[in-house]
Amino acid sequence: MRLLTKIFAIFVASEAALPTTRAKLPRDEFSFDSCSPPQLALNGSETEAGETRIRKEFNHVREVKFSGSIGPLGEQRLCKIKCIAGQWVGPLCIDQQDNGRFQPLFRNCKLEYINPHLLVTFRNVSILNPGVTFPHGAKLHTRCKELGLYKLLGTATPQCQNGQWSSRLPSCVPTTLLTNFTEDAPPSILIRIPSGSASTEPGGELAVFPGSTLHFECMFSRRVGSPDWTWTSPLGQYLTGWAIAAEERDWKYRLSIYYAKSQDTGTFTCATPRGITNSIMLVVTAIHCEPISVTRMHLSVRVEGTRLGHKAIFQCPMGFVLSGEANLTCQASGKWSAPVPKCELVKCPPLDTPENLGEPHLQLEEHNNSYGGRSVFSCAWGYKLQGPPGIECELSGNWSGPLPVCIPIQCPPPVLPLNGHLIQSEAPGMDGGRYAVGSLVQFACAGAHHLEGEASIICTETGFWSHPPPFCRVKCSYIGEPENGYVSPTKFAYDPGDELNIVCNEGFVTNSNSSLLCMQDGKWSSELPSCTNETSTTYT
Ligand SMILES: *[C@@H]1O[C@H](CO)[C@@H](O)[C@H](O)[C@H]1NC(C)=O
Ligand SMILES: *[C@@H]1O[C@H](CO)[C@@H](O)[C@H](O)[C@H]1NC(C)=O
Ligand SMILES: *[C@@H]1O[C@H](CO)[C@@H](O)[C@H](O)[C@H]1NC(C)=O
Ligand SMILES: *[C@@H]1O[C@H](CO)[C@@H](O)[C@H](O)[C@H]1NC(C)=O
Ligand SMILES: *[C@@H]1O[C@H](CO)[C@@H](O)[C@H](O)[C@H]1NC(C)=O
Ligand SMILES: *[C@@H]1O[C@H](CO)[C@@H](O)[C@H](O)[C@H]1NC(C)=O
Ligand SMILES: *[C@@H]1O[C@H](CO)[C@@H](O)[C@H](O)[C@H]1NC(C)=O
Ligand SMILES: *[C@@H]1O[C@H](CO)[C@@H](O)[C@H](O)[C@H]1NC(C)=O
Repeated sequence: MRLLTKIFAIFVASEAALPTTRAKLPRDEFSFDSCSPPQLALNGSETEAGETRIRKEFNHVREVKFSGSIGPLGEQRLCKIKCIAGQWVGPLCIDQQDNGRFQPLFRNCKLEYINPHLLVTFRNVSILNPGVTFPHGAKLHTRCKELGLYKLLGTATPQCQNGQWSSRLPSCVPTTLLTNFTEDAPPSILIRIPSGSASTEPGGELAVFPGSTLHFECMFSRRVGSPDWTWTSPLGQYLTGWAIAAEERDWKYRLSIYYAKSQDTGTFTCATPRGITNSIMLVVTAIHCEPISVTRMHLSVRVEGTRLGHKAIFQCPMGFVLSGEANLTCQASGKWSAPVPKCELVKCPPLDTPENLGEPHLQLEEHNNSYGGRSVFSCAWGYKLQGPPGIECELSGNWSGPLPVCIPIQCPPPVLPLNGHLIQSEAPGMDGGRYAVGSLVQFACAGAHHLEGEASIICTETGFWSHPPPFCRVKCSYIGEPENGYVSPTKFAYDPGDELNIVCNEGFVTNSNSSLLCMQDGKWSSELPSCTNETSTTYT
């Protein structure tokens, strides 16, 4: 079953393989060991056991058919797996281009590396990045990007054969124009088409519409010697020779084809005196492509014509991006080199999912990721934004800046009063001495000190404490009341220097000083006197 995880399967049918009723089948139909539910990838993600779409019970299923999506282009093939002795075996798939029978899938080939100057196509689709796997039998077409400036070394069409490429991917060797005319380099061939039209084909051929005029310039240093042009077209007679103009005459050994005809089809090879060659494969063919009709919104096109080599150049208005190839060329296959592109509204990466926002405390107030739209942010309670609160979607498809971040709102450690302390020095959510929003701290004063101000304060969403911290001051405590009298003034605590008077009820007197002084150390100048019955007082 391992193999199957690589196949993006869509179940289409399995019923064909299922016995319709039990009774109709001979007994031995059920004697095979049943298989557990297969793990199949449904459009790329593996289905969970039991969730498979066809049925939950696989006890009597001997064969599962599905549509496999094979290779980088997602070619659809009917595939199946079979239950044999309790094991799923397969997959077997039908290749219409072969004989239409179910056959084992041979191993894929991986394209590990693409030479930077090499253009690789598979079924006329460019393969831009390495790492792609190709099914057995896949044939790649390769050519060097700059036709004539690099020479292809190796087989141009490697094929995948059960996990192995039939030949190494070719490489592109620089020619004289790129090596400062070293003698060991193949000669560069510059192609000029003063009239007519041509297309460079995926296989590296130069396809030309009949009637075109071509100049192939073999670049070589005349001081070293003269190169030589040869060609394979049997009837061809071509003018060759050094260019005439002063600035070209020492470098360009030219072959000219006037009014190209299909008989000119063939390989044109320039060989240096040392026998080092470079070639152009020419195909002359009167191909027309379908006219391009643009019905898509916003898309505009400038078409040269429908002849081989003609170009169609597409554009999108401001605020749109072109999706696909902007320049198409009519190719020898009679097809344009790529499908007609689309204009897509410029969109910035969406931010409307928690994953895209990334930051758990960041919240979206507004979200419009079209060009010109904006996204506005806020933070969860207890957090504040750092950075601009909004960003705009720019023409490039990028947001105007990075996402803001939410940082926790914190209050600084409160100032401790002299002779005071916190009842609890730790609070939940504390971070390096700073307090989270909502933290409550309580103060206490030492010894004779009394708290003045708020005994507890709260860290607010502004990042400030709800109140200033209290003071701890030396105070005389309320001393109490004498029997048959009272003290004046009555306070919770008294400042040093305050005087306290003891007032006795009518008929009672104090036997000592009737006023007390609150002293600097928070003690009263004397004990609380008592009020005694006037008449029973004995004087000595
Ligand atoms: C799988 O892909 C097909 C075609 O793209 C689609 O119709 C189908 O809904 C997809 N199924 C699942 C489960 O995603
Ligand atoms: C070619 O010559 C130029 C100038 O002399 C030099 O800068 C360049 O590196 C040379 N290139 C090669 C491939 O040798
Ligand atoms: C398409 O063609 C135009 C005009 O010939 C050219 O300026 C542009 O660079 C080409 N773009 C691409 C992607 O080849
Ligand atoms: C690819 O293009 C070639 C000619 O360039 C043509 O013969 C062939 O049919 C095309 N293949 C596909 C799959 O379109
Ligand atoms: C998004 O912003 C663009 C540009 O300002 C505007 O045209 C479009 O109507 C907005 N979309 C929504 C859904 O508000
Ligand atoms: C847009 O973002 C991409 C990817 O981050 C970057 O490569 C590109 O340079 C950016 N474009 C502009 C115009 O800033
Ligand atoms: C009584 O106490 C006050 C201070 O409260 C002091 O000024 C005064 O001298 C005292 N008088 C006597 C008789 O001790
Ligand atoms: C004070 O004492 C006398 C004699 O002992 C008594 O008669 C009087 O009622 C007392 N006064 C008060 C207010 O208790």
